[in-house]
Amino acid sequence: MSDKMQKMIIDTDPGIDDAMAIFTAMAHPQIELLGLTTTYGNVSVDQATTNALKLVEMAGLDIPVAKGVATPWFKPLAPFPDFVHGADGFGNLNLSAPQRSAVSQSAAQFIVEQVNKHPGEISLVAIGPLGNLATALHLDPELPNKVKQVVIMGGVIAADGNVSPVAEANILSDPHAADRVFAAPWKLVMVGLDVTHQILVPRGLFDEIAEQNLRVGQFMRDSAKFYIDFYSEVRDIDGCYGHDVSAVIYVVEPELFGTVSGPVCVATDGPAIGQTIMSRYGIPYPLTDWNHRPAQYACMTVDDLGVLKTFREAMTSSFWR
Ligand code: RIB
Ligand code: CA
Repeated sequence: MSDKMQKMIIDTDPGIDDAMAIFTAMAHPQIELLGLTTTYGNVSVDQATTNALKLVEMAGLDIPVAKGVATPWFKPLAPFPDFVHGADGFGNLNLSAPQRSAVSQSAAQFIVEQVNKHPGEISLVAIGPLGNLATALHLDPELPNKVKQVVIMGGVIAADGNVSPVAEANILSDPHAADRVFAAPWKLVMVGLDVTHQILVPRGLFDEIAEQNLRVGQFMRDSAKFYIDFYSEVRDIDGCYGHDVSAVIYVVEPELFGTVSGPVCVATDGPAIGQTIMSRYGIPYPLTDWNHRPAQYACMTVDDLGVLKTFREAMTSSFWR
């Protein structure tokens, strides 16, 4: 693990696993969390913004929240998956409204402003659909030269999808925006289902967090219950997958992950819609869609116990006392 502080903006659709990721970033000694930008996805963008403000308030921090996109670029907005994260995005805990409000800038404006203020230093960690990043690219076409890296939780290269046999939810939510993000010449690392389906966060760990973290631990356990009940039903596991938190942990411990690289196109229609298709072997195909795209990185292996260790340490650290 490096000892250098990492500046980070998290683009998020909280979301129970988003909360796991955001709390980990807040508590991690090597992360400086500059802000949260919100998108529709698990819930509406209004609910996502409320939830992000609530997470900041529960943590007792003063981190800006900027509201982002409400719909996909072209696709019709699909119903929110309330059966996964609850109608409120936090397992139907129906928390009180946050006291604070979002900043006046849009998510994309906030991203562009912060990246231009800290050129070369910011990791953009996107753990929801990618409309805000695509909009930020539109606002500042030079953005790819000014971010340190983009790390996304999304996509799948060779494993099973979670919203179709070949597609992952964040990418499928807005495949056009995702394709624009993968085509941009920034360093992009995809932390997809190839690795996050290997990271099982056991129910018992949330009990341990509730006992040791008196600030947000009980919320984390109680909201995760809904998420775990969903996964125990559909995947017969007594826990949940560490989807979003893995993208945050990649930034500070990339050595826990093994990657492959190549240009990526995202399918934007047909039965494969939302598929992240990487040309990994440098074969000159007759179909040339990949030819003019930069090679990006996709995580294919992971030290899952290493990721769990960092999550546990962050959630039970003295930061919360
Ligand atoms: O496919 C998992 C992703 O979709 C996670 O980011 C989860 O929060 C949902 O947004
Ligand atoms: Ca998410």
